[in-house]
Amino acid sequence: MRKKVIAGNWKMYKTQAEASEFLLNFLHTLEDTPEDREIILCVPFTDLGILSKSLHGSRVQLGAQNVHWEEQGAYTGEISGPMLTEIGVRYAIVGHSERRQYFNETDETVNLRLIAAQRYGLTPILCVGESKQQRDAGETESLIISQLAKGLEDVDQNNVIIAYEPIWAIGTGDTCEAIEANRVIGLIRSQLTNPDVTIQYGGSVKPNNIDEIMAQPEIDGALVGGASLEPSSFARIVNYK
Ligand code: G3P
Repeated sequence: MRKKVIAGNWKMYKTQAEASEFLLNFLHTLEDTPEDREIILCVPFTDLGILSKSLHGSRVQLGAQNVHWEEQGAYTGEISGPMLTEIGVRYAIVGHSERRQYFNETDETVNLRLIAAQRYGLTPILCVGESKQQRDAGETESLIISQLAKGLEDVDQNNVIIAYEPIWAIGTGDTCEAIEANRVIGLIRSQLTNPDVTIQYGGSVKPNNIDEIMAQPEIDGALVGGASLEPSSFARIVNYK
């Protein structure tokens, strides 16, 4: 049985005060949430410390949005795996398209970060996905196969989550049809040596489309941006039917 995982990616949103307020309005919505699903919040580095304390004893796990490949060193602006695990972080997003697009993240650095995340006890969430231009040019399949091959080299597939995030669907309200997301995720699964890897869909996941997305046989979860910022909408997503 593959694990179902719903993760919020807060990106560069929420101060500590805003994060605490979110929890006040969110945690009580989990009282009747079925046990079959894992819930993760991937928050800005500055929110990790306070959330680690507030989430202690709850069923919500904490994730970072990036992790460096070295244990320590002269890498201004970066955060290492041991720094994250020390404060109770369990997951780290790696290779999000915004990192690839704005911060020159490559398949090679993504691979280094994945391996390091595992080495220091984190479960990485590897993001892959095509741009509109690549989709229109018929390059979706070849791009994803290449991102997976390079990103997952020497990575232990027993401790990784993959998120299929078509770039054209991120933050646009233009969700990928559930059936198409299911097809691409099936393709991703066909490239893996471990068929039990949890594979999420991400890109304009909302309360009104989560049920259809989660009904697809290949889709094991969602990586949610904008709709994870508001307690009631994230609660509806986490409580998908
Ligand atoms: O990582 C989640 C993401 O990129 C999707 O963002 O706002 O379209 O749900 P959003």
